[in-house]
Amino acid sequence: MQQNNRAQFATRLGVVAVTVGSAVGLGNIWRFPYEAGVNGGGAFLLLNLFFVFVIGVPVMCAEFVIGRHTGSNVRSAFRRLAPGSAWSLVGYIGITASILILSFYSVVAGWTMEYIYRSLTDFCGIRSATALHDRFDTFASSNWRPVMWTLLFLLCNYAILARGVEKGIEKVSNILMPLLFIILIAFCINSLFMPDAGKGLSFLFRPDFSQLTPKSVLSAMGQAFFSLSLGLGCLITYASYFSRRTPLMKTAFLTASLDSFVAIMAGVIIFPAVFTYGKEPAAGPKLVFEVLPAIFAEMPLGALWSTLFFLLLFLASLTSTISMSEISIACMCDDLGMKRRNATRLNIGIAMAFGTLCALSFGCLGGVRVFGMTLFNLFDYVSSNVLLPLGGMLISIFAGWRLNHAVLKGELDATSRGGRIFLRILIFCMRYVAPPCILIVFLAGIGVL
Ligand code: TRP
Repeated sequence: MQQNNRAQFATRLGVVAVTVGSAVGLGNIWRFPYEAGVNGGGAFLLLNLFFVFVIGVPVMCAEFVIGRHTGSNVRSAFRRLAPGSAWSLVGYIGITASILILSFYSVVAGWTMEYIYRSLTDFCGIRSATALHDRFDTFASSNWRPVMWTLLFLLCNYAILARGVEKGIEKVSNILMPLLFIILIAFCINSLFMPDAGKGLSFLFRPDFSQLTPKSVLSAMGQAFFSLSLGLGCLITYASYFSRRTPLMKTAFLTASLDSFVAIMAGVIIFPAVFTYGKEPAAGPKLVFEVLPAIFAEMPLGALWSTLFFLLLFLASLTSTISMSEISIACMCDDLGMKRRNATRLNIGIAMAFGTLCALSFGCLGGVRVFGMTLFNLFDYVSSNVLLPLGGMLISIFAGWRLNHAVLKGELDATSRGGRIFLRILIFCMRYVAPPCILIVFLAGIGVL
């Protein structure tokens, strides 16, 4: 069913690099530590891993199968497989949510740019928790700087996206992902030698289930979806650029493992420092931005490390945001016949408008609350805890129940005996575990059950 003239990722390494590039980003290094901090540490990590492997991997395979089989963007993939049905709504959920995520994500990516700039020009080596807190707050609540960085970040996206799939996305990911891994490992080792490393590690690895609420279970699931880039058809779009030879199950498993590994490394870097420098683990979205500078201040050549770290975080965010934008750009180009450049302009333009609102929600729009949340928190909550799980549930129901079974098995193509057993388990999870589990966690988390 694949279209022949569609762009394809050039190499096997490229496929893994772009998929991991999409998955690894602020979700792992910024969002995971702060969510784990708010939701009690070890128990959150354990639940998150459960959701990643029992629900995330099957949903990821479902996205891969739908994408590669149809060779289409998220909207027309469902239209082709189930013409005239309401399934194409999944595509629209994906497009809407991807723009919401892109908006608040760009604000945080903008923060990383501010920190790169500061590391280069004005690295002051502050260690005190209150001083770091004040410094971040003064910046985030000012009205023009965060907005400027958000817009600049979106312009960087534009520059890469307008160049197209192989030239832009694949090249950037191939180089950056390995580099990010190496530097994270170096920082983990550094954190393990901090005075209160033990406390930090036991916060992260010793589960205390008494702290868990239905809401934190929902957050752990939302985090799994967010971090794996699932539920919006982002991976449907990417898989439409995969070649027939890409092994889907292996790629899914590898992506989920590497992604979780990066999140755990981020935890190992952050929590020893949180306890050593007397910070509150439940500080929320600012956690990482207040704790990391204290780590750098202690290190020899701190300014250099700081620059390098925030630079890589910025670049990892870029490889994630281009995957978000690609969802709607692919739809506009394939279905509306728009030129890639114009589609990119429209996508980035909308994100700039919403991104500005999110950036200002730490400053002059801080008083604007919807359901008690600022715009930034609202966009994050609605997309991660509502739209992604909803999209993920529908995608796994579609692949498990509606899609022709022979197509599903053919695309997942298990050659070895172990592979066939794994395939059975995977399809079982796709059909019987993921949909009800997502529904129950979602309803309990929003307080309906
Ligand atoms: N997974 C990315 C991260 O952890 C964010 C991301 C990229 C994403 N593409 C997505 C989240 C699509 C949801 C859907 O930073």
